[in-house]
Amino acid sequence: MAHESESALESVEDTSRLSESGLPVEPVYGPQDLASWDPGKQLGEPGAYPYTRGVHRTMYTGRPWTMRQYAGFGTAAESNARYRQLIAHGTTGLSVAFDLPTQMGYDSDAPLARGEVGRVGVAVDSVDDMRVLFDGIPLGEVSTSMTINAPAALLLLLYQLVAEEQGVPGDRLTGTVQNDVLKEYIARGTYIFPPAPSLRLTADIFRYCQAELPRWNSISVSGYHMAEAGASPVQEIAFTLADGVEYVRAAVAAGMDVDDFAPRLSFFFVARTTLLEEVAKFRAARRMWARLMREEFGARNPKSQMLRFHTQTAGVQLTAQQPETNLVRVTVQALAAVLGGTQSLHTNSFDEAIALPTAKAARLALRTQQVLAHETDVTATVDPFAGSYAIESMTDDIESAALELMDEVESLGGAVAAIERGFQKNEIERNAYRIAQQTDSGDRVVVGVNRFRLDEEEPYVPLRVDPAIEARQREGLERLRAERDGKAVTTALGELRKAAEGKGKGKQPKPNVLHPMKDALRARATVGEVCGALREVWGAYTPGESV
Ligand code: 3HC
Repeated sequence: MAHESESALESVEDTSRLSESGLPVEPVYGPQDLASWDPGKQLGEPGAYPYTRGVHRTMYTGRPWTMRQYAGFGTAAESNARYRQLIAHGTTGLSVAFDLPTQMGYDSDAPLARGEVGRVGVAVDSVDDMRVLFDGIPLGEVSTSMTINAPAALLLLLYQLVAEEQGVPGDRLTGTVQNDVLKEYIARGTYIFPPAPSLRLTADIFRYCQAELPRWNSISVSGYHMAEAGASPVQEIAFTLADGVEYVRAAVAAGMDVDDFAPRLSFFFVARTTLLEEVAKFRAARRMWARLMREEFGARNPKSQMLRFHTQTAGVQLTAQQPETNLVRVTVQALAAVLGGTQSLHTNSFDEAIALPTAKAARLALRTQQVLAHETDVTATVDPFAGSYAIESMTDDIESAALELMDEVESLGGAVAAIERGFQKNEIERNAYRIAQQTDSGDRVVVGVNRFRLDEEEPYVPLRVDPAIEARQREGLERLRAERDGKAVTTALGELRKAAEGKGKGKQPKPNVLHPMKDALRARATVGEVCGALREVWGAYTPGESV
C-alpha cells in the first residue's frame, strides 16, 4: 500500500466535507475510525445476518443483478414492441411504466384522462390491453415489475389472467408490483383511496400472493421518489424503512404471520452520483432492516430479514444541458448500486431530462449495465468495500442517523400518523431547498449547468408520443363495451362492492377483495369501472383529510 510521505499528509487540509446526508466525510480515514467497530456484529458474512455484505453468499459471482429497464408509453402494442427490443438487446427483467390515467384508476375515455393517455407510460384499460402488452412474451419465463400503486391489485390480476390464457400457472409467475401507496402520499401523488382502505388492499395483496402467486414480490417499498423529491440518503432509507414497518404492522394486524409474507417484501432505492455515500447507504439499510425484522417482528425465516432491492439511477441529477454528460453520471450511479449490492437495476437514458428516451438512448442505458457486468471485475468478488476504513465508518454513521430519524417518525405515531402531519414531506422539502440553494450559489457543481457550460447548446430531436393514441384507446373501449357480457360485468362489480363493504365476522379477517376483483376483470370490466366501484365504497383521498 503506497504511503504518502508525512509532509504530504500534513499538507492535507483537515477540512471534512459534508455528505449528501449532512454527515462529515473525513479527508482521511484510518484504523482509529474503526477502533470500536466489531466486524462480527457490524459486518457478518455475505448471505448471512445482518446481511451488511449482501443477501447472497455468492452475490454477483453466482448471478449478476437483473438488468431491468423501466419502459412503457403509448398503446400496449407500442410498449410491447419496446419490451421485445429490450429483450433482444439482452435485458434480463421487464419493468412496466403505466400512464397516469391507469395509475389513477381512470379509463382512457374518462374526462380526467384527457391529454395524459399513453404519455408517461402505457395505457391499460382492460384485460384486452394487457393481452396485447405481453403478446409473444412467455410470462412463465420472464420476471416483470409493474410500477403501479393504488390499483396494483387490478394490474396484478390482469397480468395473472393473461398468464392463465398462456397456460402459465400462478406458482410460476415471478415479478413485483410496487404497491407502495404510503410514498404516494409523501412524494409521488398517484394515490386513490384513503390510507386505511389502501393498507387493507396492500394486506389483501400480500395474502393473495402468498396463496396464489408464491414467487411474486408483493410490494416494492420505495425510497426512490422521495429521493427524487429531495430526500437525503439518510431520509431516503429512514422514511422508506418506516413505511416498510407500517406495512408489516398492517399485515400482522390483519392476522398474517410475519414469515408468511415478509420473504416477498422488496425495496426500491435511488443511486446518486455520490458513490461512496450511496454504497454505505445500501449497506446500512440492509443491516437496519435485518435487525428490525428479527428484533421488532420476531421474523425467524432468514428470507424475512433480507432487504432485497431494485435501484434506479438518479433521474433528478440528469441535465438537459450537454445531455451526453449524463452517460457518465449514470455509469457512476450504476456502479454505486452494484458496489452496494442491488438485486435489480434500471439505468436512466441520457436524454430523459429532455423527453421520453429514444430507442438508441434506451439501448445505451442497458449497454452501460452490460459493460459493468461483463467488462469490469465488479462481479468477481462480493462486497469489495468490506473492512474499508471509510466505507465502514460511513455505513455506521448513516445507520445511526437513519435510526434516529426512524425514532422520530415512531414518536409521531409511525409513518401514517407522520404523513398526516406532513412530517416526511416537510423534511424532504427542506432538504430539496438546501440542494437548490447550493446549486444556485455554485457551491454544488452541476457540470454543464452552473460550471463548464456551452454558449450554444446543440440541437436534440426528442421522441414524440402519437397524439392519435387517445382516439385509438377510446375506440378500443367502445368495442370492448359492445362485445362483452354487460350483465356479467354488473354482477361482478356488485360482488366486488359487497366484499369491499364486508366486515370480518368476529375474528375472521375482512373478505379479500382480489377474488371478486379477478372475476370482474376476467369478465372484461375496465380499470376505471373496478376502481370506480371501490371509490363508491371507500371514497377517494384528498390531502389533509384525517387518515
Ligand atoms: N445466489 C443464490 N440465489 C440467487 C443469487 C445468488 N447469488 N442471485 C439471485 N438469486 C436468486 C434469488 O434468490 C431469486 O430467487 P427466488 O425467485 O427464488 O427468490 C432469483 O435468483 C432472482 O433474483 P432476485 O429476486 O434477486 O432478482 P429479481 O430481479 O427477480 O428481483 C427484486 C429483484 C428487487 C427482489 C424485485 O422486487 C424487483 O425486481 N424489483 C423491481 C422493482 C422495479 O423495477 N421498480 C421500478 C420502479 S420505476 C418507478 O417507480 C417509476 C419511476 O418514476 C422511477
